[in-house]
Amino acid sequence: MTRQALTTVEADFHERMHAAQIHGLWELASQMTRHPEPKAIAHMWKSSLLEAMVRESGEVVPVGEERRALQLFNPGLEGRWATTNTMIAAVQLLLPGEVARAHRHTPTAIRFIMEGAGAYTAVDGERVYMEPGDLILTPSWAWHDHGNETDKPVVWMDGLDVPLVQALNAMFFQMYDVPQVPLSKPKNASVHLHGHVSLNPTWVKERPRSSPLLLYSWETTWQSLNALRDVDGDAHDGVALEYTHPQTGCSLLPTMACWIQMLRPGERTKAHRHTGSAVYYVVRGAGETIIDGRRFAWGRGDIIVLPSWALHEHANVSSRDAAVLFSIQDRPVLDALGLYREEALGENGGHQKVISSFAA
Ligand SMILES: [Fe+2]
Ligand SMILES: [Fe+2]
Repeated sequence: MTRQALTTVEADFHERMHAAQIHGLWELASQMTRHPEPKAIAHMWKSSLLEAMVRESGEVVPVGEERRALQLFNPGLEGRWATTNTMIAAVQLLLPGEVARAHRHTPTAIRFIMEGAGAYTAVDGERVYMEPGDLILTPSWAWHDHGNETDKPVVWMDGLDVPLVQALNAMFFQMYDVPQVPLSKPKNASVHLHGHVSLNPTWVKERPRSSPLLLYSWETTWQSLNALRDVDGDAHDGVALEYTHPQTGCSLLPTMACWIQMLRPGERTKAHRHTGSAVYYVVRGAGETIIDGRRFAWGRGDIIVLPSWALHEHANVSSRDAAVLFSIQDRPVLDALGLYREEALGENGGHQKVISSFAA
């Protein structure tokens, strides 16, 4: 309480109230914050650190019952299994000849391929083959295993809505009884059926909540970005494209959106903030993101966390090459619940004053 010392009568009342698992709203008023005050903080994992840890994990840790995936814990979340309040990002390594055994869970997963080509994720009996820059989906409760039959390691970023599913007490997990789910569909079947821009197969009546297209290839993504390199784009995000569900045009997953955004050489966006958190992966290029006045200088392979309601602006520091950011965002949840809010920074020409720099 902010008031002066309690009288004996008041103190006695509070003690008995608390013992009965009751609290007064007058004691909790500070939690009705004027705006979001997330515990998650802006943070960055440099690619040099991630690459070294990944390499070492391959030497030290076998692929056992669980995946060899390094989970990125937000330093503000007190050891919780969470990169933001709603999402976990991880970096996973699968060595030549390895299989990560089949399981399924209610958290939804995406994989963004960082390194290595020709390994696969099998989703409900379909092998989805990976190339660097590809986005692969594992919808909620779909059986999945991973295999690497190539002679090179494969590394990808996982993004899952684990903290959200935990907060909703909706976690279910199940191991498949043998290491791999028998194949029931041809390789990349979902691309064959659903991978046609603006053309949907009319005979498919099922409308799953998650995109039925499981693979969004880097080739098409890069073609689209390139084709748009001379448009104005968004003042806050540059040429930002959202991967969509081919049948509905909505976010590809109910709880997570995936974006790819290009910052042209020398481009500097204006600052804004919004509810919802994001995790960025630097696909190519070099630049900086200013988050609440702190500079995060990034390069290829770095992973950066943006908490809810933090001011942010991005810049490509190269005068020659494009920079590309992939991100996962919890925006669909905020939209669905009517909690999305956004505001632009008005002062200082829309740019923040940089007061500190992140040092890894
Ligand atoms: Fe999984
Ligand atoms: Fe933003």
